[in-house]
Amino acid sequence: MTNATATDFVIDAAPVIPVVVIEDASKAADLAKALVDGGLPCIEITLRTPAAMAALEAVAGVEGAIPGVGTVVTPAQLQAAKDAGAQFAVSPGHTAQLLDAADVLGMPYLPGAATPAEMQSLMERGYKNLKFFPAEASGGAAYLKNFASVFKSIRFCPTGGVSLKNMDQYLSLPNVDVVGGSWVAPKSAVETGNWGELTTLAKDAIKAAHAING
Ligand code: 3PG
Repeated sequence: MTNATATDFVIDAAPVIPVVVIEDASKAADLAKALVDGGLPCIEITLRTPAAMAALEAVAGVEGAIPGVGTVVTPAQLQAAKDAGAQFAVSPGHTAQLLDAADVLGMPYLPGAATPAEMQSLMERGYKNLKFFPAEASGGAAYLKNFASVFKSIRFCPTGGVSLKNMDQYLSLPNVDVVGGSWVAPKSAVETGNWGELTTLAKDAIKAAHAING
């Protein structure tokens, strides 16, 4: 089995994948509804808080949402996330153990890569969709552009320091159709339950993306 293009539905759903760090799982359903209302169905719940798995389960119950799990670093997390309803998984990097586990579980998986060697080892495993992380710190769009001609079949989802201010630099590259970022779900708005702000941020992101790629 290969996960080469298993994440096409994630890459193609919308131009932005919200990266969510959530402290209170009881807020997850409203958070997801706000982002879905704004046009961003794929939602990556990062495993950086104790509330993450319960939040993932809540997002899985929201109509129109495509729940994903992020910051996955062990096969056990991959299994637990699948059980909680995750439809895709994302990691900052990748390991052979995680790639094997994703194959066994049949979990659509977006592994991370930041160097040509990492990209090539994922290509050897048949991957075509990769997360580029940490995007800005690794050299940003100017760096990522170099891979468009050498690794023609690879599509990247840059995350890490991406926002409304610089997403155009990435989305105008031929090897980028989607970016990921936490800016569409800011901590302050989530804490205060300002769901309208999330919907507005999602809509603004989509508008900006369409202005670039039509
Ligand atoms: C990620 O996990 O993809 C990044 O931490 C998101 O980075 P950001 O908070 O800079 O958007």
